[in-house]
Amino acid sequence: MGRESVCTAQQMRDQEILEKYRPHFLKIEYELEQALLSKVDAIAEIGRHSLLGHGKRLRPLLFILCCNLFQYQSQELYKLSVVFEYIHTASLLHDDVLDNAEVRRKRPSANRLWGNHAAVLEGDFLYSKAFSIAVNYANQAFFRKLTETTTIMAEGQVLELLHTRNWALTPKTYFDIITAKTAVLISAACACGGIISGASQQEVRLLEQFGMNMGIAFQLMDDLLDYISTEEVFGKPVGKDLREGKVTLPLIYTLSGISEQERASLQSLLAGDQLNEHTHARIMNLVKSNGALARVRREAETYTEKAAEVLDPFPDSETKENLLELNQYIIHRAF
Ligand code: FPP
Ligand code: MG
Repeated sequence: MGRESVCTAQQMRDQEILEKYRPHFLKIEYELEQALLSKVDAIAEIGRHSLLGHGKRLRPLLFILCCNLFQYQSQELYKLSVVFEYIHTASLLHDDVLDNAEVRRKRPSANRLWGNHAAVLEGDFLYSKAFSIAVNYANQAFFRKLTETTTIMAEGQVLELLHTRNWALTPKTYFDIITAKTAVLISAACACGGIISGASQQEVRLLEQFGMNMGIAFQLMDDLLDYISTEEVFGKPVGKDLREGKVTLPLIYTLSGISEQERASLQSLLAGDQLNEHTHARIMNLVKSNGALARVRREAETYTEKAAEVLDPFPDSETKENLLELNQYIIHRAF
């Protein structure tokens, strides 16, 4: 089977899984749009562009499913679920400014269309909106979890910034970065589902761990897909991490798996200020051909397995099956 038909089959599987949650997505989309209203038209316009129509809505969905696990019902559930998508999108708006990114969710990025200032301020708006929704509809424990989470995300992003073009980055620091910048928010969406549903501390802890492991697998796959996907499928340019000087696990494993002589030659290629297209292509090919990607995929699978094990103590139910299925989707997704 050719590469393109593999992608198409994968995309179809992604769509099938996501189709199943359509009733949830419709309610999430509705709430996302409601909270975007602003008396400043540009806020709603940039917000709509950045938020609506695209995006997997993984975080709100996980929150809803974790509430369903305890049969928790509330009028405000979907309203509250968008808190996680708002924080996620705010962080992407800021991230795209930091990364000077041009494409996000298959569209030109907000910073490209409206400039850095507007993109940062839109992120601030969404971020504040998320907290005002939480203040109105959530309890203190939920709110505490949220503020702890965004603090760690900012720390993770700064840590990543400090290690830009650090070609000697260790796996330990890499995992610290991805846990903080990505996994904690996915973990918080799951934990907050338990918190708002009145779950026990132990149950909340399990959901937190489930989301954390799943979130690490998610970022590992994101970093892997940056080496092997295509812009059309992935919704953002590929090979971008290397171009941005972002050292991720595929490159770390490549550097650790080659001879000292090869490493020295690769490091001298990387030492230049700007990677030219030829050098970029050469390093991309090296990463793709030395077994590093298979190692990263195995690592992601291990985190997915850990996440699934964490759910063992919960009694079998359709919702638990859904959570396990989404957990699997993370490592098979094409985008
Ligand atoms: C995308 O990573 C970025 C994140 C997952 C987190 C960004 C976090 C912040 C900007 C700090 C916290 C900000 C707020 C508002 C809480 P990536 O660059 O690896 O992914 P990409 O390829 O999709 O850009
Ligand atoms: Mg980025």
